[in-house]
Order: sequence, then C-alpha cells, then structure tokens
Amino acid sequence: MKTTNYSTIAANYDNNQFRIDELKLDYDLMDYVEQHTQNNIEMLDLSCGTGLYLEKQIQLFKGKNINWYGLDASKEMLNKAKEKVEDVNLVHGYVEKLPYNSGVFDYISNNYAFHHYEDKEKALDEITRVLKVNGIYKLHNIAIHDMPKWWVYYYFPTAYEEDIKRFWKKELVYQKLIERGFKVNLKMEYRMEEIAVKDYFHHAENRDISVLTLISDKDYEDGLMRMKRDLQLDPSKKITNDFAEVFWVSKKM
Ligand SMILES: C[S@@+](CC[C@H](N)C(=O)[O-])C[C@H]1O[C@@H](n2cnc3c(N)ncnc32)[C@H](O)[C@@H]1O
Repeated sequence: MKTTNYSTIAANYDNNQFRIDELKLDYDLMDYVEQHTQNNIEMLDLSCGTGLYLEKQIQLFKGKNINWYGLDASKEMLNKAKEKVEDVNLVHGYVEKLPYNSGVFDYISNNYAFHHYEDKEKALDEITRVLKVNGIYKLHNIAIHDMPKWWVYYYFPTAYEEDIKRFWKKELVYQKLIERGFKVNLKMEYRMEEIAVKDYFHHAENRDISVLTLISDKDYEDGLMRMKRDLQLDPSKKITNDFAEVFWVSKKM
C-alpha cells in the first residue's frame, strides 16, 4: 500500500468543513465517564491529527475528570493540534511502537486513521497492550467497501483501487479484535442521497482527502476536469452519492 505524506496535507486539512460539521459528542466516552466517576480517566486520541476531535470533546467534557492525550506520526499535523488545545499531552509517535507503559489508558479513540497503518496487526497489539483491562478502544473509520457510489470514486476511479489495498473489511477488523480478547460492538451509519457536484468541487480542489494524494497527478487532474466539464454543461448537476461509517466499540476483557 502507498503511504500518505501528511506534511503536505496538514495546512489544508481543517479547510474541509465536513470534518468540522460532523464532530459531535462522543456518547461512548460519555457512558464510560458516567460509569467511572471515582478515578481520573486517562483518554488517548490515537492519530489525533490536527486535534479536531480533542478540541471538540474537551469543550463538551469540561469539568469532567479526564486527562487528555494525543499521539500522531506527523509533526505538522501535531503542530496544528497544539494551536487548538491546551492541557493535552501531545506526542509525536507511531502506533506500531507506542511510547506508553502497558495498561495505562481507560479509553482510546481512533478516528479515520486505521487504513494508514502499515502494520495493522502490530498496531492492534500495541493498542491492546496500552489499554487497561475493561478499557474501551473506539475505532472509527469510513467503510469504503459499503460506499461504491462515493463521489470521490465516481470522479477519481483509481482512488478506489488504492483504497482497497489499505482498508481492511469491517469483518476482518472485527475478527482481529475478537482474537485479541475484546468484546466488540460493531455499528454502522449509512446514507445515500443526491448531491450537487458544485458543493464538492472545492473539496476535490483542496486535495486534503488522503486518497487523492495517492493517485497519480494525471488521474487527479482528469477527475477534476470531469467535474469541471460536468458543471459547465449543467451547473446544478446532481449525482447519487453514498457514504458509510463504521464504529467498532471494543472492551478489553
Ligand atoms: C485522516 S488523518 C485523521 C486525523 C484525526 N484523527 C481526525 O479525525 O481528524 C490520519 C492521521 O493518522 C496519522 N497516522 C498515519 N500513520 C500513523 C502511524 N503509523 N502512527 C500514528 N499516526 C499515524 C496521520 O499522521 C494523520 O494525522
């Protein structure tokens, strides 16, 4: 699989309004906090990127007994996170070799990053190691196998070819978590709708969606041209778009 260079994406990453709009209270963290009021909760946002999730949750969980941590492999993404959040223990590091002692975290969130991990088995071993018994690992990602009509694949078909090399199917992730002794609750959110191409053109131009940096420049330019041509012919053109997200909320037994 190809790897994404986040040093080039970091500057544009937060320009994608979708990333901001979709942020909401983490109800699984809320459940955990409500059930564990006696002790401080050690909470790691793994592959925290520019700190979007941390910033939102820190606002929403103000006054709760949570110590916040973030780790990411990209110094440029972490620098963006440092501009947003205070009182978070942010470190540069790799999931395959986490710089933490064993059994220290109560809750690990992991958003939109698992497909980037080159050694996914090692990543899961490390996550299992640093989590406390009864701790929660909440893995969240897009479910590319369930969204063949995603606008990105419609205009940039080679993006799908790259994605299937790096995304594990949801059943495989489930199985790997079970093998490591987790109790897993897999949930999905799916939607299909008609979207206006004009609303997505700037996302394509911003090129902050990692797979658009993995396809060749020619395939990328061809896709942009197709979008432009469609909009010239019909500025209100709509296409059918689908989008799927998957959550594996897993308790270490
Ligand atoms: C799509 S971004 C997601 C960022 C953030 N979680 C969010 O939801 O906005 C993927 C992140 O995974 C990080 N990443 C990729 N490989 C990694 C690894 N081996 N260890 C730790 N982080 C990694 C990247 O640096 C990048 O910040």
